[in-house]
Amino acid sequence: MDAKTVNILAIESSCDETSAAIIQDGKVLSNLIATQKVHEQYGGVVPEMASRAHMQKIVPVVDVALQQSGIAKTDIHAVAFTQAPGLIGSLLVGACFAKAYAQALNVPLIAVHHMQAHVLAHFIDDPKPEFPFLCLTVSGGHTQVVLCKNHLEMEVLGETIDDAAGEAFDKVAKMLGLPYPGGPLVDKHAAQGDPKRFSFPVSQMEGYDFSFSGIKTAVLYFLQAEKKKDPEFVEKNINDICASVQYTIIKMLMLKLKKAAADINIKHIGIAGGVSANSGLRKTLLEAGAENGWQVYIPKFEYCTDNAAMIGITGYYKFLNGEFADLSVSPTARAAWS
Ligand code: KG4
Ligand code: ZN
Repeated sequence: MDAKTVNILAIESSCDETSAAIIQDGKVLSNLIATQKVHEQYGGVVPEMASRAHMQKIVPVVDVALQQSGIAKTDIHAVAFTQAPGLIGSLLVGACFAKAYAQALNVPLIAVHHMQAHVLAHFIDDPKPEFPFLCLTVSGGHTQVVLCKNHLEMEVLGETIDDAAGEAFDKVAKMLGLPYPGGPLVDKHAAQGDPKRFSFPVSQMEGYDFSFSGIKTAVLYFLQAEKKKDPEFVEKNINDICASVQYTIIKMLMLKLKKAAADINIKHIGIAGGVSANSGLRKTLLEAGAENGWQVYIPKFEYCTDNAAMIGITGYYKFLNGEFADLSVSPTARAAWS
């Protein structure tokens, strides 16, 4: 093996995906994701069950990631793990595993911020964004407009003051009787619906901040009123309801992204996080790119939702920069990062 080769084992366990990846010199050799199905029946992630499922899955997931990568355990040069933010019990499983593994192999440990990793998912494949670029990071727990100055220097320009965009998708889906996580299902129904059929309020926040609690309440009251008139309203109109809600959420996201891009005069624009898998958002971003002369970057579908490859790629840049953690590092449920 080349003396300069850097192999990183990465672990992601912040929520309900147990994931392990092997990254060699910034390239993904393997990326295993075990999705916890146990939460579907509860309409959301049950933290206790998530931690338990991580404990059951982490060893086999790491083993398969290693097998698929073709490298030996002894060829790992560092172990990267998600340190924050996330469900504390879930984070603890990944952190304890990573510490033990690093200690057993006598290699350094790298603590990674999950939201920074979502942004750096852009650096897994080509074309990679040019700096500075602007990233709309939209997940189940966060909604942020991030100014990326280099791989490790980022500034959060604005974020949601209440619900995240993914949460809004999931909560509306729940109101419509769709299983968790509802975002992808809303997306599917929306593709066959009329986005202008129903109108919902667009929140007007200062600067680059977002608010998604208003649309959630508006949809709730709207459905209550319509169901009084026709108990089968949801069944008959689910495609149009999903299309209209999705249209409104995308409108709110794009408003702030466009404002930031214009104010800072940046033409390199990316989206990241689970909601960036949304087909409507991807299409709208491409259209806005063509309109505004932006160079648009969208990570591959499997790198949008939670995955260890993005933790590994972040770990790789931290490795190059000598940013290591010691064994006293502990996970935190919430953590600012810029
Ligand atoms: O980034 P992620 O996998 O986990 C967190 O860090 O939160 O994001 C999960 C979120 C969920 O709210 C899920 O419903 C949403 O991403 N999501 C989508 C789509 N795929 C995933 N939302 C809308 N449309 C999609 N296609
Ligand atoms: Zn995430």
